[in-house]
Amino acid sequence: MKIFIDTADIDEITEAQQWGIVDGVTTNPSLIKKAVEKLKSAGDTIGMEAYIRKICKAVDGPVSLEVKGTTATELVKEAELLYNKFNHVNNNVVIKIPVNTAMKTGDEPFEGIKAIKALATRGIPVNTTLVMTATQALLAAKAGAAYVSPFLGRIDDYIRSRLGISHGKMDFFDSTITRLIEEEKRREKEGEVSSRYGEMAEVDYSDGGIYDGIELVESILKIYRAYDMKTKVIAASVRNAHQVRRVAEMGVDIATIPFAVIKEMVSHYKTEEGMRKFTEDVVEEYRQLFEDTGRQQ
Ligand code: G3P
Repeated sequence: MKIFIDTADIDEITEAQQWGIVDGVTTNPSLIKKAVEKLKSAGDTIGMEAYIRKICKAVDGPVSLEVKGTTATELVKEAELLYNKFNHVNNNVVIKIPVNTAMKTGDEPFEGIKAIKALATRGIPVNTTLVMTATQALLAAKAGAAYVSPFLGRIDDYIRSRLGISHGKMDFFDSTITRLIEEEKRREKEGEVSSRYGEMAEVDYSDGGIYDGIELVESILKIYRAYDMKTKVIAASVRNAHQVRRVAEMGVDIATIPFAVIKEMVSHYKTEEGMRKFTEDVVEEYRQLFEDTGRQQ
């Protein structure tokens, strides 16, 4: 599995790159906004173009840059502009296009897909963003996207908030319990179980049959494998190391992971405790070995 870092913060990118496990970077307008705020508060006056060039140079792997328009014509024009401006820096630019740019009912829903098709035809690699359903991922692959990014964390947020489940931003969502409740509810309706859940009986515990973000990834992988589709799946909107493990077990191509979650992946209390103990147990005779590094015995 490849690991991308989900940030536009050059300090985080540079540090993570030095760890030797980062294969690419994904950005979006919100991450750029955060980076710009950090630069401003540090009094750094680097311009946007120079800053993005720095990001492209810092990584030997794909760097996703997002467009801002909503019509297919705007998306294609902006994608070409970004690609022409930055791809020559390190030959690693991928353009992020929202799968559907509609912001309300009635807006045209196929502008993203049309833009993906046009860009794929021109050989510009596209990372399809804001993917919340497997059918969106299917359409993006049909249009020729190089990547799709299902948003795990945001699907979990959506399902949990509809169910009134309170949670922290980075908490893992275990949908096993909601599935159990739903199953009970179904049996109750069939008269097998006495009434236990009251008004919850009408609640939908899933998002169109998807119970959490992990399952969204699973569904997309299943479809792509069934038709041997070449589009790579990037697990995105990742909030914790548990999600990374689950998508890695499924064989997802890539996970794009925030800096803090990559750090969480390497950490464990017992590893720290073990380090303290090993360090404490170094006897003098063993310690001396390391002082003789230049000398042959
Ligand atoms: O890669 C997509 C990501 O940046 C969105 O993450 O945590 O804002 O849902 P999040």
